[in-house]
Amino acid sequence: GDFETLIVEKADGVALIRLNRPDVLNALNSTVARELVELVGLIDRDPEVGCSVITGSEKAFAAGADISEMETKSYMEMYGEDFFAVWERFTHARKPVIAAVAGYALGGGCELAMMCDFIIAAETAKFGQPEIKLGVMPGMGGSQRLTRFVGKSVAMDMCLTGRMMDAAEAKQTGLVARVVAADQLIEEAKQAARTIAGFSQPIVAMTKETVNRSYEMTLSEGIRFERRLFHAMFATEDQKEGMNAFVEKRKAQFKDR
Ligand code: HXC
Repeated sequence: GDFETLIVEKADGVALIRLNRPDVLNALNSTVARELVELVGLIDRDPEVGCSVITGSEKAFAAGADISEMETKSYMEMYGEDFFAVWERFTHARKPVIAAVAGYALGGGCELAMMCDFIIAAETAKFGQPEIKLGVMPGMGGSQRLTRFVGKSVAMDMCLTGRMMDAAEAKQTGLVARVVAADQLIEEAKQAARTIAGFSQPIVAMTKETVNRSYEMTLSEGIRFERRLFHAMFATEDQKEGMNAFVEKRKAQFKDR
């Protein structure tokens, strides 16, 4: 489809999604939210895509929610629209989404990166939750997700002082999975996405779902959930193909969609 705020390229089972509001450092307004939610819905139904990468520009992944869109809103408008609730639907994507972050990932930008399944950062990446400086706090999940990524002490420091974290600190605290040179970022993220897209789509989706349950469930409930889906995987052709290919020392050809 055609989008006002996104550029989408599809190749080798991977959808590369670029946020495209360069004049405002990819500030996330409600059009971006609506378009991203629509796009991940389309991708979930597209058998040719196995994994997505979402990225911004060299300067900014996204410098936050669009402040000019929010500035004058009243409480009743924010509450009435359930402002930001639409973003929750982005996290309902069944296929994996990798965030490839260069430059600023601030406020809603950091929160969007954390809504993805994992983050690959360029050495130039800067993460922060600076909302406190605007007289508000994180509103797209940052207070909850950042705390689960980096723990209470670092999350409090970030949310209360509004300071930025560089890529090295983001790696060291577990916010990001990998840090790479800026000119390698897109290739590294695409390569990871191509690897994922080469696996069985239903098994990948179930794996994503199961890891995500660890945020929502107790350990014993989560392990039971994992075991039930692990058993269910034996109903797929791809499990038979994957294990048979190993035994026959050949490359697996996954087909289930
Ligand atoms: C709207 C934004 C924006 C934003 C930048 N711009 N961030 N517009 N919303 N979040 C616009 C600027 O107004 C400017 O427009 C243009 O993008 C370029 O930005 P500059 O500030 O000129 O660039 P620079 O000097 O390089 O500084 C980069 C920056 C700074 C450090 C990232 O832009 C900045 O501090 N941005 C705000 C970061 C922030 O507070 N994010 C959290 C937002 S609230 P013009 O027209 O002047 O060229 C949020 C949380 C939601 O996300 C939860 C509840 C609020």
